[in-house]
Amino acid sequence: MTNTRVRKAVIPAAGLGTRFLPATKAMPKEMLPIVDIPTLQYIVEEAAASGIEEILIITNSNKRSMEDHFDRNYELEERLKSSGKHDLEEMIRKISDMANIYYVRQKEPKGLGHAIWCARTFVGEEPFAVLLGDDLVVNEGGEPALKQLIGAYCEKKASVVGVQSVPHEDVGKYGIVEPLDKNYGDSRRIKLSGIVEKPLIEQSPSDLAVLGRYVLTPEIFKFLETQGAGKNGEIQLTDAILRLMDIQTVYAYKFEGIRYDVGDKFGFVKATIDFALQRDELRGELSGYIKKLAEEL
Ligand code: UTP
Repeated sequence: MTNTRVRKAVIPAAGLGTRFLPATKAMPKEMLPIVDIPTLQYIVEEAAASGIEEILIITNSNKRSMEDHFDRNYELEERLKSSGKHDLEEMIRKISDMANIYYVRQKEPKGLGHAIWCARTFVGEEPFAVLLGDDLVVNEGGEPALKQLIGAYCEKKASVVGVQSVPHEDVGKYGIVEPLDKNYGDSRRIKLSGIVEKPLIEQSPSDLAVLGRYVLTPEIFKFLETQGAGKNGEIQLTDAILRLMDIQTVYAYKFEGIRYDVGDKFGFVKATIDFALQRDELRGELSGYIKKLAEEL
């Protein structure tokens, strides 16, 4: 590894998004908006606020809307300018200045591990971050989730997966980590002895689930290259991380922040309501509406 600063991030957005069909028939689920901002923009903002300079988005044939969103739109900017909507013009232009964004296509949706493998040339010999659009993390007044993981990486120079506790009955939905020392107490950084994708409840090594944020060393690509299909017939990043543990220490980091599972319909609706309640122009009307609904329920 020649560079130890984390300046590159990979955002996989080539999944089929079957849970959001038909919306995802012609548009990646990462472009679904929470109120009026696409999930992917929140993710790019988190990466930029964590010090990331270069971002690679893994796409499929539905990439057009993402490329256009992060590019300049001179005609729109001109129209907003000439109609005196300078705030909107500024907001639209800023989106294209957030980071250097590149795109590569995953030719077949063979799984998250395969999507990350498509980033090997972009990443080269550096540590890099992975952010999934399924998980939005809000840490009001604190550090973004990815920045917390990068902090842990800088201390240990080892791969770090972002985790939080999930209800025991939900472990089968996630990658679950196995702490080396079960008595990790209150510490946020936990040395791992294993990791498993979507375990059976009774076999789960813990309730700590990997929630869409990673900092990985480039050695992961050696394992991704030869990684066979795992759970659900997909090439799993989790399985390659388990093999990485044979040659390097891997940590979990319990990040701080409220996490929304926007890859799930209920999580998406919850995020939409919470984010709308944070908006000055919507809070009054929406809270009145929610109270009225609650009386009728
Ligand atoms: P998910 O399993 O949540 O995405 O993958 P999905 O397959 O699109 O979701 P459903 O279950 O069909 O609704 C986690 C992340 O990995 C990306 C997805 O875009 C998502 O951000 N991914 C997944 C890829 O880029 N390529 C793949 O082959 C699979």
